[in-house]
Amino acid sequence: MTQSILKLDSVDVSALESYREKFALDVLTGLSEPRKSIPSIYHYDAEGSKLFNKITELPEYYPTRCEIETLKRNIAQIAGYMGSETINLIEFGPGDGGKTRILVEYFLNKGLEFQYIPIDISYSALDDLHQRFKKSYPKLELKGLVADYFSGIKWLNNEYDRKNVVLFLGSNIGNFNRAKSKLFLHNLWNHLNDGDIVIIGFDLKKDIDLLLRAYNDSRGVTADFNLNLLQRINRELAGEFDISNFRFFATYDVFSGAVESYLVSIQKQEVIIGEIGKSFHFDPWEPIHTEYSYKYLESDILSLAKNTGFILKENLYDEKRYFVNSVWEVNKPHAS
Ligand code: AVJ
Repeated sequence: MTQSILKLDSVDVSALESYREKFALDVLTGLSEPRKSIPSIYHYDAEGSKLFNKITELPEYYPTRCEIETLKRNIAQIAGYMGSETINLIEFGPGDGGKTRILVEYFLNKGLEFQYIPIDISYSALDDLHQRFKKSYPKLELKGLVADYFSGIKWLNNEYDRKNVVLFLGSNIGNFNRAKSKLFLHNLWNHLNDGDIVIIGFDLKKDIDLLLRAYNDSRGVTADFNLNLLQRINRELAGEFDISNFRFFATYDVFSGAVESYLVSIQKQEVIIGEIGKSFHFDPWEPIHTEYSYKYLESDILSLAKNTGFILKENLYDEKRYFVNSVWEVNKPHAS
């Protein structure tokens, strides 16, 4: 039985130096624009990942609980998509694997034949997950790819002639704007085979107060999660941000359907970032955009699936219908 994490040559992950350089370049670019921003992917260093896990336990942050409920109450249904032959159960950005456990445990108990392959760009995140899953499920065929999502899938298809079931949970797709999510799904379709299954978590449009409360939590954990971006710049890029000079602000844009997160400078200030060798000016009340969290209608999800070459098999819901896990099948009728 093989239990291994594979680093793909196409992805230079051991070069931490270059990751830091990319971080520096993205910060330089983002803070030099008239509308300042920092890409939301940088939320997830060790500290940020810890804070995100804390967010998922907040009473106001419903998505994680709703998705867990959905997976639990529809577990037999989901297992039905696994089929009888051995499959690759692939997961994009598994996080701490908490939700995946629900699926993996059920599939193992049912005696389904599969190998579980989380794909993540972070070696340490994947390594942590591996240690924990190895301990909990010694019989699980566990692999792991440190790679970007698409080169990971491409490699898998060359390695194994198997059906793929891909998990993209947690409303992670919500960080992409509409155009980018379409591009992402076209790309996914392109790397999968006819009949492969994709399960995507979408957060649904709902009462605006509920949406806003999920991001403006009373304990300020979401604020800390966002402020960690500045602290990360301080830690990794010799930044000199004074965190107390920024406040977190989240709002909902009813036109675009996205919760938008910002860090707002509460006064005029100059902030030096040593590694970039530059000082950045902030006007009083000037914002830095830090994240989009797009919300969907069922009709948006259906047209997104159709537009990108998938057949929507079914939508699975929690009891309140706050969240949906949408099950799609790759449709490639003309593939050989
Ligand atoms: C992990 C991207 C789905 O957008 O709701 C939670 C991240 N940001 N609270 C989201 C997040 C603030 C979360 N996603």
